Amino acid sequence: MSKENGLPVIGVLGAGTMGRGIAQVAAASGHMVKLFDIDKDVLAKAVIGISSGLDKAVAKGKLKEEDAEGAKKRIKTVLSTSNLKADIFIEAIVEKIEIKRKVFKELESQNSTDTIFATNTSSIPVTSIALGMNNPGKVVGMHFFNPAHIMKLVEVISGAETDQETTKTIVDLATSWGKTPIKVKDSPGFVVNRVARHFYVESLKILEDGVADHETIDKCIESLGFKMGPFRLMDLIGVDTNYSVTSSMFESFSYDSKFRPSRIQEGKVLAGHFGKKSGKGFYDYS
Ligand SMILES: NC(=O)c1ccc[n+]([C@@H]2O[C@H](COP(=O)([O-])OP(=O)(O)OC[C@H]3O[C@@H](n4cnc5c(N)ncnc54)[C@H](O)[C@@H]3O)[C@@H](O)[C@H]2O)c1
Repeated sequence: MSKENGLPVIGVLGAGTMGRGIAQVAAASGHMVKLFDIDKDVLAKAVIGISSGLDKAVAKGKLKEEDAEGAKKRIKTVLSTSNLKADIFIEAIVEKIEIKRKVFKELESQNSTDTIFATNTSSIPVTSIALGMNNPGKVVGMHFFNPAHIMKLVEVISGAETDQETTKTIVDLATSWGKTPIKVKDSPGFVVNRVARHFYVESLKILEDGVADHETIDKCIESLGFKMGPFRLMDLIGVDTNYSVTSSMFESFSYDSKFRPSRIQEGKVLAGHFGKKSGKGFYDYS
């Protein structure tokens, strides 16, 4: 499709915790952005969140006011994938392989053969997401960290079939957005989430064992210099998303007990206590 401003049009799939941050960075970097979600309330919240994020960047002197206003105008929200076109899609929908595959396949059928499909999955191998695509060479991992408009690191993951050119385009794109892209191999959880899993899983075990309550565990870890303890961080990430990532890695690593999801965390998900985004998680935000 034709590029706008000489820059590729970015389709952001999912306007939740991650999608809105990614859309903000893309728009602030000059791209036209099509932000898709199936939930109109989520889209409305995302627009408010992005607008306030851009205003904060202006207040901090990181962005000019006219650039923030331009970025706001470059984001178009859409409630359907039907006829949705972009040069690069960045997918940040729920951590469920079958949903990610279905959305990519549908979009592939109605977009140019040059279109790139980048996934922000935290734990699912890119090779599996690309399975069934006509052109798996265009599928790549582009893993941002939360909050996506602030955190610099982006893991770039080539699946078994990813073209080198596709990977290079994504590395260059992340660099042009002021990010620090690091290429890593395709393996469940890649680097950061594999290491970080133990931060969450072991903290939940400490809680289950009654060694300390969640606030005490957070205090201990934060007093060591970590910006956030594991429970505060799970609330920021989304307790549901964090639980899905652990469950997916538990399965991918042949049910190795070191990745076993916690019943306490499962209980929070069943109760709808997803953290900051739902108003309650391990902490209360109401
Ligand atoms: N939260 C984090 O800290 C974090 C960090 C890095 C990567 N990720 C990854 O990013 C992806 C999104 O995570 P999130 O935390 O933004 O999730 P989220 O639950 O906050 O948002 C997901 C959004 O996807 C939408 N969606 C769009 N199409 C959908 C469909 N067909 N079916 C169901 N939902 C659909 C949902 O409505 C929801 O708004 C996941 O793959 C996750 O692993 C999350």
